Amino acid sequence: MTQLPDRDPETTPLAQVVVFASQKGGSGKTTVSAHLAVEAERAGAGPVALIDTDPQGSMAKWWNARASDTPAFAHISVPDLARDIEALSAAGYRLIVIDTPPAITSAISEIVSHADLVVLPTRPSPHDLRAVGPTVDIVQHQNKPLVFVVNSATARARITGETAIALSQHGTVAPVTLHHRVDFAASMIDGRTVGEANPGGRSAAEISQLWAYFDERLARLRGDTARLIDNPLKTFDEDILTPVPKALAQLKQSGESAAAAAVKQALEAPETPPAALSSHRFGDVAGQWDGIERRREDTGPPPGKPDRRASASRPAFGKRFSA
Ligand SMILES: Nc1ncnc2c1ncn2[C@@H]1O[C@H](COP(=O)(O)OP(=O)(O)OP(=O)(O)O)[C@@H](O)[C@H]1O
Ligand SMILES: [Mg+2]
Repeated sequence: MTQLPDRDPETTPLAQVVVFASQKGGSGKTTVSAHLAVEAERAGAGPVALIDTDPQGSMAKWWNARASDTPAFAHISVPDLARDIEALSAAGYRLIVIDTPPAITSAISEIVSHADLVVLPTRPSPHDLRAVGPTVDIVQHQNKPLVFVVNSATARARITGETAIALSQHGTVAPVTLHHRVDFAASMIDGRTVGEANPGGRSAAEISQLWAYFDERLARLRGDTARLIDNPLKTFDEDILTPVPKALAQLKQSGESAAAAAVKQALEAPETPPAALSSHRFGDVAGQWDGIERRREDTGPPPGKPDRRASASRPAFGKRFSA
């Protein structure tokens, strides 16, 4: 990397470093890190620099296929990471996104030690869940904030929720799930992101929501008081229980309109019995219902059966009738 100017800490803060790590191959480290870096740049949180520490160089290949120059790509080696983060910050970079190989090595541990935030993408599968432990251990050992991102989820699959619950035992789970869609894979092949390939699509919406979450997390981590005052933490029920107050509001609204409709109907309706009862009415002629419900069976015994009820020929009480 070329020599960059010295940084004045008063005027130029250190860039925030987000490290994507997961021992499990194919969990989405490269895909999610590239997407979030582009989205951060697009949302104005840049300049963003990408660092690929994976010898496979998937991120570098994707960046080489890109038409756009942003985010920037920084060639660095892990032993020089501290110096290069300093140099990138001096050059004005505000966010550094680091992709790592699927491994548990001292190099991963070294990279994590420079992180302000570690992101662990996980597919919702038992294999992926079983594999998170060693990565979580490294992050917790370094006492770094950790966020899981559930990636490549199938719509409405029960395992997605179960994965989130299992992961939440070990750290924070991002509130936005990335679903399995071909545009994620396709856009990575031609050096783009889902937002660049199909800006109105659902994958693009997920990425921008996920970035909004990370943007907020990073603002809190750097103690950006101006940002926090502008965007105060919402109330618990708004943030966490959003579907419930919405559902309650809808219920209240529909309850109110149902009650209003019932009152209106009662005021306007002629004085007739409820429709459900009309088929059971007995003794009403031409709508002159006397208000008393009777059972049709009262008209007599079932067809072909003798009438066993008391009759004039049988005393209703007193001595037992003897045959
Ligand atoms: N949400 C998704 N929907 C569809 N395909 C996805 C999604 N996320 C990742 N993929 C695809 O899964 C494969 C693995 O993803 P990716 O390379 O990002 O994982 P990785 O964790 O970086 O893998 P490695 O550990 O080998 O570096 C890629 O082909 C990628 O295009
Ligand atoms: Mg990768």
